[in-house]
Amino acid sequence: MRILSGIQPSGRLHLGNYFGALKQHIEMQEQHDCFYFIASYHALTTVQDPKLLQEYTRGVALDYLALGLDPNKVTFFRQADVPEVCELTWILNCVTGTGLLERAHAYKDKVARGITSSMGLFCYPVLMAADILIYKSQLVPVGKDQVQHVEMTQDMAGYFNTTFQCEVFVRPEAKLGQALLVPGVDGQKMSKSYNNTVELFAEAKQAQKAIMSIKTDSTPVEDPKDPTNDNVFALLKLFASPEETAEWDARYRKGGMGYGQAKKRLVELFEERFAGPRAKRAELLAAPSYVDDVLQEGGKKARAVAKQTMDEVRRACGLATSRLESR
Ligand code: TRP
Repeated sequence: MRILSGIQPSGRLHLGNYFGALKQHIEMQEQHDCFYFIASYHALTTVQDPKLLQEYTRGVALDYLALGLDPNKVTFFRQADVPEVCELTWILNCVTGTGLLERAHAYKDKVARGITSSMGLFCYPVLMAADILIYKSQLVPVGKDQVQHVEMTQDMAGYFNTTFQCEVFVRPEAKLGQALLVPGVDGQKMSKSYNNTVELFAEAKQAQKAIMSIKTDSTPVEDPKDPTNDNVFALLKLFASPEETAEWDARYRKGGMGYGQAKKRLVELFEERFAGPRAKRAELLAAPSYVDDVLQEGGKKARAVAKQTMDEVRRACGLATSRLESR
C-alpha cells in the first residue's frame, strides 16, 4: 500500500508532532511502501528566510533519521526536489472552487491569529492535495488538524477525474496517529505557535524543565485527583505501558500523590525514549553528506513516480503534446 505524509520544516519538532504523526510514520515503514517528504514549499508560506528554511529542512531530516526512519525502507525526500507538484497544484487550482478553500479550518485559524493571507496560504490545501495525488497515495498518516485537508484532497481528486472523464487519481484516506490531542505545558493544544512545546531534541535539562513546568490544578497532595483532567497524566499515558498507566490512574484517584511525582516519572520516560535518538542525531550531524545523499536519492525515486503521473495528467487534460498533435 502506498503511504505518504509530509512534515513542515517550520521549527523544531515537539511531542505534539511525535504522537500526532511522526511515531506512526516510523512504525509504518515496516509494512508499507512509504513516501515521506519535508514540505519546504509549504513552509515557504511562513518561513521566508532562506538560511532558516535550509536549517529547518536539514533539522527535520536529521530528526527523522535519528528517530529510526530507515532510508532503505522508505522514500525520504525534499518536496522541492519534485517541482512537478507545483505544476499539478496549478492544474488542480483550475478545477477547484474557491468556496472549498474558504472553508479550510487551518486557513481560517491562521488568518484569525493575524497572519497576513497570501495566495500561498490560501492555496496551501491544493499543494497538499498535489503532494498526495501525484504519488497515487492510498493512506495519509496525519495529525487531527490535517484531516480536513485530506478530505479536501478527496474532493479535488473527484473534481479532476469528473472534469476530464478519467480515473487518473486514487481517493486517499487519512489515518490518525496515537494521540488526537497532545496538551502543551499550559494545557492548550501543543503547538509551536502557542510557545508551549516540549521539544524532542532539546538538551535533557531543557526537556526536564519544560516537563516540570506543566500546568496542574491546585488539588492538595493528600486529596484524590482526576486523571482524566490533568495534563501530566495525558502525556504520561502516551509514553507508559497500559499496565503502568493503570497504576498511575489508581494512584491519582487514591490521593496522597503530588503532581510532582508524576512529572518526575514523565521525565524518566521521556529520557528512555529520546536519549538514544538524541545521541544518534549528534552522530548524524557529524556526517553531513550522509543526510544529503539520502535526500537526493529519495528525491530521484519520488520524482520518477511523479513524472509518470504527470504524463497521465497532461494527457487527460489536453496539455500533452502527443494529444495536441493527434487532433
Ligand atoms: N500540511 C501538513 C502539516 O502541516 C504537511 C503536509 C504537506 C502534508 N503536504 C502533505 C501531510 C501531504 C500529508 C500529506 O502537517
